[in-house]
Amino acid sequence: MFVTFEGADGSGKSTQAELLRAALAAEGRDVVLTREPGGTELGEAVRTLVLNGPGMGAWAEAVLFAASRAEHVEKVIRPALERGADVVCDRYVDSSFAYQGIARGLGVDAVVQLNLAVTGGLLPDVTFLLLLDPDVATGRQVDPDRLEREGTELQAKVDAAYRELAKRFPERIVTIDATGEPEAIAREVRERLRDRS
Ligand code: TYD
Repeated sequence: MFVTFEGADGSGKSTQAELLRAALAAEGRDVVLTREPGGTELGEAVRTLVLNGPGMGAWAEAVLFAASRAEHVEKVIRPALERGADVVCDRYVDSSFAYQGIARGLGVDAVVQLNLAVTGGLLPDVTFLLLLDPDVATGRQVDPDRLEREGTELQAKVDAAYRELAKRFPERIVTIDATGEPEAIAREVRERLRDRS
C-alpha cells in the first residue's frame, strides 16, 4: 500500500504521516516513512536548494521537485513496495500539481505529464488531503522556508488548488478536516483506510 499525505504548509501532514507509520508498525507491518522533497541524498540536496536557495522560475522549481521525486521513486519507494512494505510519504505528486501546476500557473496537465514520466506512472493507492483554514495553517509556521515566506497569497492559492485536485481525482484523494486534535484526525485516517481495504 502506497499512502501519501498532502496539504498546505502547516496543515499537520508530517504529524499524521508519523502517526500512521506508528499505527501500521504496531500492527506488525513493514512500513517505510519518507518525505518530499527529500528521502534520498539527492532529494535532501534539492530540498536545501529549492527551500533555502535563490529565487527561481516556476518551471525550474517544478523540474527540481521532479528530479528529487524521480530519484526517490527509483531508490526508495518502488523497492519498498516491491518487497511488500507499505510506504507512507509526506507530500508527493499532488504537491507539484497544486503548487507548481495550479498556484504557480504552469497548468495541471503539463505538470501531471512531467510527473508521470519521472515516476514511471506511480500514483498512490490513497492520498489524504488535510484541509485547514489557510490563515490557521499560516499561523502554525515556524522558521518559514522560501515558499512559506511568500505568505498568505500563495497559501490561499494552494488551498484552493488542493480542493480542485480533490474534485479531479475523487477515487484517490480523501479529504480530511484538519482542525481537530491530532489523535482524532489519526483515528479518522485509519478508519478511512480500513474502509478502502
Ligand atoms: P514541506 O517540508 O512539506 O513543508 P511543510 O512541512 O512546511 O508543509 O514542503 C516544503 C515546501 O515545498 C512546501 O512549501 C511545499 C513545496 N513543494 C512544492 O511546491 N512542490 C512539490 O512537489 C513538493 C514536494 C513540495
